[in-house]
Amino acid sequence: MHCPQPNIEIVHLNETHRESVESLCEECFPIHYPDWWYNNILSDRVQFSIGAFSDVHLVGMIVAEYQSPREAREQGKISYSCSNYSVLYIISLGVRSEYRRQGIARKLICLLLDSLNTNCKLVYLHVQSTNDVAINFYQWQNFQEYSKVPGYYTINDTPADALVYTYPIHGGPTELVPWTDLFLNSIYMMYDWTYTQFQKLFSYVKENFT
Ligand SMILES: CC(C)(COP(=O)(O)OP(=O)(O)OC[C@H]1O[C@@H](n2cnc3c(N)ncnc32)[C@H](O)[C@@H]1OP(=O)(O)O)[C@@H](O)C(=O)NCCC(=O)NCCS
Repeated sequence: MHCPQPNIEIVHLNETHRESVESLCEECFPIHYPDWWYNNILSDRVQFSIGAFSDVHLVGMIVAEYQSPREAREQGKISYSCSNYSVLYIISLGVRSEYRRQGIARKLICLLLDSLNTNCKLVYLHVQSTNDVAINFYQWQNFQEYSKVPGYYTINDTPADALVYTYPIHGGPTELVPWTDLFLNSIYMMYDWTYTQFQKLFSYVKENFT
């Protein structure tokens, strides 16, 4: 993928950038994130926390994590069933308003997609259904609308709907059909439940009878 070249420095974000990250998020998002959210995105647990710096100022960031298809099913209601593969969830993307329309978000997405391992077959994210700018941006990046999740966000104590957008990568599924969700998800949930029960039973037998 050809990445644009805005005049920024790319840095892996960690706890030392916390103040700048909080300030950027407060400017970019209508949600007030709790401390645990910042702890999480700045920890090693989240694989991609990438900042775009202009001089010493953090002007943009993208945060994403690998998930199993099972997690994507639970969180994004995505009926992607290949258990050998991973899925990437974009947790957050924001650019300070005075730095927008300079290709910074595009550069961040581009770097992210280029650094994914080939085992990852699908990228997905939630976006507020009224956020036309972000929706335009993702559509422009060839993300496809997959489904609507009513009341996914709570903004100023009011529920707000989200759209799930997906992007197939490394030969991943181009046709994810939401109407099959209900059926497929029930099968997957039954499978997950049965598997967990068997694991519990197995541990119990092992602990008590061996
Ligand atoms: C969405 C956002 C990240 C885009 O960042 P950006 O750095 O301005 O985006 P880019 O400059 O890389 O834009 C790439 C393309 O996306 C589209 N786009 C971006 N902003 C747009 C806007 N305001 N209106 C229409 N299209 C837009 C354009 O096609 C643009 O290409 P162009 O400038 O050559 O026309 C930024 O507006 C933002 O931080 N918004 C607030 C936070 C947010 O909503 N994040 C997404 C949450 S899921």
